Amino acid sequence: MRILGIETSCDETAVAIYSSQGGLLAHQLYSQAKLHAQYGGVVPELASRDHVQKLTHLTQATLEQAGVTQVDGVACTTGPGLIGALLVGASFARSLAFAWRVPYVGVNHLESHLLAPMLEPEPPSFPFLALLVSGGHTLLAEVQGLGQYQVLGETLDDAAGEAFDKTAKLLGLGYPGGPELARLAEQGQTDAYHFPRPMVDRPGLDFSFSGLKTYTLNVWQNSQQDQTTRANIAAAFQEAVVDTLFIKCKRALQQTHSTRLVVAGGVGANQLLRQRLKQLPAQVYYPRIEFCTDNAAMVAYLGWLYLTKGVRQSSMAIEVRARWPFAMAD
Ligand code: KG4
Ligand code: ZN
Repeated sequence: MRILGIETSCDETAVAIYSSQGGLLAHQLYSQAKLHAQYGGVVPELASRDHVQKLTHLTQATLEQAGVTQVDGVACTTGPGLIGALLVGASFARSLAFAWRVPYVGVNHLESHLLAPMLEPEPPSFPFLALLVSGGHTLLAEVQGLGQYQVLGETLDDAAGEAFDKTAKLLGLGYPGGPELARLAEQGQTDAYHFPRPMVDRPGLDFSFSGLKTYTLNVWQNSQQDQTTRANIAAAFQEAVVDTLFIKCKRALQQTHSTRLVVAGGVGANQLLRQRLKQLPAQVYYPRIEFCTDNAAMVAYLGWLYLTKGVRQSSMAIEVRARWPFAMAD
C-alpha cells in the first residue's frame, strides 16, 4: 500500500510517499522562509497563495521520484495550523483522493511530528515519553500506542520555538529565528548572564516561556547592545530554555518510570538540547534533522499507519482545524 502525504500547515509545502514494501519512497519540500523573511514572520495570506502555486509541481516531482503514477491512499495535515494554508493542502489532497478513488485521511500535525522518529532505522517501541517542541507547541506526553496519548504538561503561553523566534527578532536576527539564535549563541559566553528557568521550582510538568522573552528584552535594552553582548544574551537564553526542557524531561521520566524519550518538532534540531538530553537516564530518539521541522514524510507515514490498520478514514468533506488538541486525534 502506497500513501501520498501532503503538508501545508504553515510555511512549508511538502509532499511524500510512504509504502508498505519500500518505506519512504520519496519526499519533496519547498520552504517559504525567504518569502516571509522580509516581514519577520509568517504572513498567512502569502503562505496560502504560495502553497497553491507549489503543490501541483511538488506532487508531480514526488510521484516521479517514487516512480509511480498513482497511490492507494492520500493523507493530509488538517490541523492545527493556519486555516487558509491548511485548506489549500486539504482541498488538493481530498480532490486527488476523489479523482483516484482511494481513501483519504486528515491527520493531526502534532501527532505526525511525534511519530516522525518511527521513520528512522532504529525506531522507538511503545510505550514512550515524548517531548514535542515546535514553533507552535511545547508539551510532554505519555504515548502508549498509536492514538493513545496522555498530555502530562504543556506550555501555558509561548511555545519553545516561538520564544526562540521572538527573542531572535528582538535581538535583530533574521527569520526563522531559532537556528539563527542557536548559531549566534555558539559565539557567546554562557556564564556572562544567568537567565531564569521558568516554572522549574513549581511541581508539575507545564512550561512557560513568555516571561523569559520579556526578561531577555529587559537585559538587552539595559545592555551596550553590541555584538558581544548580543551573542552572550543569545547563549544565556538558549541555555535557559535547554536547561528548563532538560529539568522537565527528567521529572517526567521519573514520574512515568519511562526509559525511552522521543524528542520531536523544530527545536529538536537544537544541538545544545541534544547534548544536554544525553545526560538523561533514558534512551533518546529523534527524527533525522530534516524531519524535525515540518515535512510530509511524517504525514505520509501517519496516514499509512491509519489507513493500513483501518483505524481511521476521513469523509468526503474538506475539514480543517486551526486548533486541534493533540490528545484528541479523531
Ligand atoms: O516543527 P516546526 O517546523 O513548526 C511547527 O510545527 O511549529 O518548528 C519550527 C520551530 C521554529 O520556531 C524554529 O525557530 C525552531 O523550530 N527551530 C529551532 C532550531 N531549528 C528550528 N529552535 C532552536 N534551535 C534550532 N536549531
Ligand atoms: Zn510543525
